Amino acid sequence: MTEQKLAHLVTFGCQMNEADSELMAGLLEGMGYDCTDDPAQADIILLNTCCVRETAENKVWGLLGKLKRLKRQKPELIIGVSGCMPQQKGVVAEIKRRFPHVDLVLGTYNRHELPDMIGRIRSDRAKVHEVWEEAGALPEGFPVKRQGGIRAWVPVIHGCNNFCTYCIVPHVRGRERSRRPEAVVEDVRKLVEQGYQEVTLLGQNVNSYGKDLGSEMDFAGLLYRLNEIENLWRIRYMTSHPRDFSERLVEAVAACDKVCENFHLPAQAGSNRVLKRMNRGYTREYYLDLVAKIRAMIPDAGISTDLMVGFPGETEEDFAQTVDLVRQVRYDQAFTFVYNPRRGTPAAGMPDQVPDEVKSRRIQELITLQKEIALGQNRALEGSILEVLVEGTAQNDPGLVTGRCRTNKQVTFLGTPELAGRLIQVKIDEGHLAYLAGHQV
Ligand code: SAM
Ligand code: SF4
Ligand code: F3S
Repeated sequence: MTEQKLAHLVTFGCQMNEADSELMAGLLEGMGYDCTDDPAQADIILLNTCCVRETAENKVWGLLGKLKRLKRQKPELIIGVSGCMPQQKGVVAEIKRRFPHVDLVLGTYNRHELPDMIGRIRSDRAKVHEVWEEAGALPEGFPVKRQGGIRAWVPVIHGCNNFCTYCIVPHVRGRERSRRPEAVVEDVRKLVEQGYQEVTLLGQNVNSYGKDLGSEMDFAGLLYRLNEIENLWRIRYMTSHPRDFSERLVEAVAACDKVCENFHLPAQAGSNRVLKRMNRGYTREYYLDLVAKIRAMIPDAGISTDLMVGFPGETEEDFAQTVDLVRQVRYDQAFTFVYNPRRGTPAAGMPDQVPDEVKSRRIQELITLQKEIALGQNRALEGSILEVLVEGTAQNDPGLVTGRCRTNKQVTFLGTPELAGRLIQVKIDEGHLAYLAGHQV
């Protein structure tokens, strides 16, 4: 009997990258590799990388350094780097120079070529470093090996056309390419057959869905189509650009019973001057109006956001406007980031870069405020009854089970593992900062 070959995948960055890793895990499985959590056991180690901020890149450089020893002990081990980092100019050359033990480099556009590349490494005993500069036709129909059996990622649109001035993503993921609606529907149907109950539709900007397809289909239309799929319970999506969040889309969320009432609307900043320099395409007034419309139509809506401090030229007054926006909206959740210059983006060359100590002070202030608000929002839910899709036993208490309510808050309650995959009505007893605790009703 031949020994089972093992692959160890490490994913950095966003959900899109997680979905790519699931695709690559599927391809590896097709080649006879099983996945392992233990890098020391692996025959192939693949780092699926992110370059949205320097911290994400540094984690990869650090890990590559550590892997040198493993490669020395086990020369037949294949070490690979995939994803967004190698799509940047000069990174492949840097990998070659600093980390000659890396056998395989591929980018975001040719990830489906992984089996062929591994084949060539094995047959030719050579390194294969290949990164496409442009996307080809969207590959469809590849096997996907997903994690967990309840919630699944489904990419619907790749790339981004927005070119926010701070952001590297359009440079490493290319222009917007929508998948055909039939392919998305087919994917979701299959997932339901396999027992999945919730799907999250993915894209850097899902609201652009369909614009490149040359048909009537838009994202709202896709939601209506998917809402008809029997035995699917929940539909989520991320991320949606506030500028493109049409009233038709808010109506679709309200009308489709399976679409969760959770709105992730990255604001980035609260000052019109900064928003303009970021090229976000909306004003704070427009944004606040959108939030008001959503809350008028869907009073229980959860609203979350991404915020950035320290964008070049951000003054104390600009920052105060972000703080004020946060106070006005009262977000259920906010992901807060310190602006980090990315090579090749317009903002990196802007004058008036904000000093690190100012950035640190501002982010601390924002985090403290948001914690206070999030706790308040969660406490306000005490006494209410929420529908929870149970995922399994809670990590730190085997007597508890955990899952998510429709607005994507984590809920824990007393229960047994058999509840996994079921929708349970839970009365909330306590709202905490990061979760809600309750009991089954
Ligand atoms: N497409 C989504 C959007 O438009 O919101 C998400 C893109 S990005 C993966 C996620 C978040 O990272 C952004 O919303 C932004 O707040 C943050 N981000 C992007 N570029 C950044 C940079 N150069 N420095 C710090 N944060 C950044
Ligand atoms: Fe980046 Fe802006 Fe595109 Fe989001 S919309 S991925 S922040 S360029
Ligand atoms: Fe990072 Fe690429 Fe996502 S840069 S955030 S992994 S699209």
